[in-house]
Amino acid sequence: MCGIVGYVGKEKALPRILSGLKFLEYRGYDSAGVAYILNEKVNITKRVGRIKELESSVDYNLDTYIGIGHTRWATHGVPSEINSHPHQVGKFTVVHNGIIENYLEIKEKLIKEGVNFISETDTEVIPALLDYNYKKEKDILKTIKKTLSSLEGSYALGIICSDDLDNIYAARCGSPLIIAKEDNGNFIASDVPAILSYTNKYILLEEGEIAKISKDNISVYDNELNKIIPKENIFEGTEDAAMLNGYEHYMLKEIHEEEKVYLDTLNYYVENNKFKNTMLEFKDYKHIHIVACGSAYYVGNIGKSLIEEYANIPVDVEVASEYRYKKNFYDKDTLVIIISQSGETADSLAALRKAKEDGIDTLAIVNVFGSSIAREALYTLYVKAGPEIAVATTKAFLAQTTLLTLLAVRLSKKEELLKEFVGLEKSINELLNKDYLEYAKYIYKHNDTFFIGRLVDYALCLEGSLKLKETSYINSVAFQAGELKHGTISLITDGTPVISICTDDLVRSKTISNIKEVKARNAYVIFITNEFIESDFYDKIIVIPKVSKLVSPIISVIPLQLISYEVAKLRGCDIDKPRNLAKSVTVE
Ligand code: G6P
Repeated sequence: MCGIVGYVGKEKALPRILSGLKFLEYRGYDSAGVAYILNEKVNITKRVGRIKELESSVDYNLDTYIGIGHTRWATHGVPSEINSHPHQVGKFTVVHNGIIENYLEIKEKLIKEGVNFISETDTEVIPALLDYNYKKEKDILKTIKKTLSSLEGSYALGIICSDDLDNIYAARCGSPLIIAKEDNGNFIASDVPAILSYTNKYILLEEGEIAKISKDNISVYDNELNKIIPKENIFEGTEDAAMLNGYEHYMLKEIHEEEKVYLDTLNYYVENNKFKNTMLEFKDYKHIHIVACGSAYYVGNIGKSLIEEYANIPVDVEVASEYRYKKNFYDKDTLVIIISQSGETADSLAALRKAKEDGIDTLAIVNVFGSSIAREALYTLYVKAGPEIAVATTKAFLAQTTLLTLLAVRLSKKEELLKEFVGLEKSINELLNKDYLEYAKYIYKHNDTFFIGRLVDYALCLEGSLKLKETSYINSVAFQAGELKHGTISLITDGTPVISICTDDLVRSKTISNIKEVKARNAYVIFITNEFIESDFYDKIIVIPKVSKLVSPIISVIPLQLISYEVAKLRGCDIDKPRNLAKSVTVE
């Protein structure tokens, strides 16, 4: 939630900061702001709305070589200029990603000391406390250290002090922050895509660390202000990964990357139908808990089906925001798997920490290299999706499903099942090249849509329904096909769109019976299946390739993603940045 970019160097700062912020808009986009140093003074410009509003209010050519910028996803206080970042109190100007949980307590204390607050945000207490502490400490690093020790919650911070106009200070705890090095200067940023146009070399700031960054130097300190030597990373992908490359939207571009993402993930773990040593060996677990949020939770449901069926291990799938607070029944024979594209989702991270504290083995399935969940889990397996910019996940979902399928095979100890993956990319390619507009043309005029399926197809329905809701704002519900008649069928009226997924031979005839039930109530049925059937129980049929049951979920999701995309486009929605959403949810 919220994106931070800062730059200090020999090049003009504003073009670098604003272009970086645009790559971070997926993290929040209700307001934006920038602070820069010009004529020995800290200047601040903030605007409500997208980065483009901010862009039209600042002069790119200003002779400023140091600044910090922010794109906001509002948590405390409505989107307004006053609540936007940067926040400035006295000598300190701050951009913040995260939440300060004890801000009211700090605010009350500072108000008693005569400090004046103007915003409704939690963030404003940070510059206020910095300024307050600085009056006594008189040293910026010591002031930051002292201030951080009073903050509860999560933060990534970019800080400028008007007594030191050559450096940006940065700190992190629970929210990601990188420091990137360019020949002519240095950046701070919430995520790698922000800096890829300029450099691929970066340092991951670790929990509790503080950094002081000038145009030609980066100093990193631990929370006791001992200097440490950070590890430098090189981002392996290309700048293209964060560009539209001629596509109208990132969502469409990312869906069209699915063939590559599938192969990259498969080939990272498998060669000649054998696991490489990149795939971990696991002991014999008796139970598995899969914990995640949003689409990653639905991947977990697919994983449950596959692991139970092929590896014969019972699996519970839980939403992380519940799991972190509920009573969990696990022991040394349980593996807790956390699935997260970003590796930073606050609830998933908290669930991971809870399992770890209880001494349970944990496995992270993550896309973003070096993210908190990846680093903190006992075991980590990366999916190879590359940077995902569209808020609605697509290629990461497919890559996670691929990896969960590989994991099911690994846990089943039946390596021969790997042959089922051979040639699957052709089916992916075939589905990517179909036209889904005719189905979208029917759905987009309706306000309600239902998705029905059984077993693993139901897990796909959950994802199809979420994709439609988040991108096109159409209310949609997913049901186990047999369950609809226990109440919800009352909502089916003349022409209600019902999308049914039916790929599993075991329940094919049962699902078809359920489709007939809705058809009898005049629903408009779009039947997605892997076996053509001539019949009048559907209005439209989408025939997908018949592949083995093991790998079928990897391909079945593609029509659902592309239908949602087309519907959202017909409805004129902001496809890559749906209203109220953010991609990386680093708050509870
Ligand atoms: C947000 C995104 C979803 C995503 C979920 C979990 O809600 O909009 O697309 O599935 O967070 O994110 P994660 O990074 O943990 O997979």
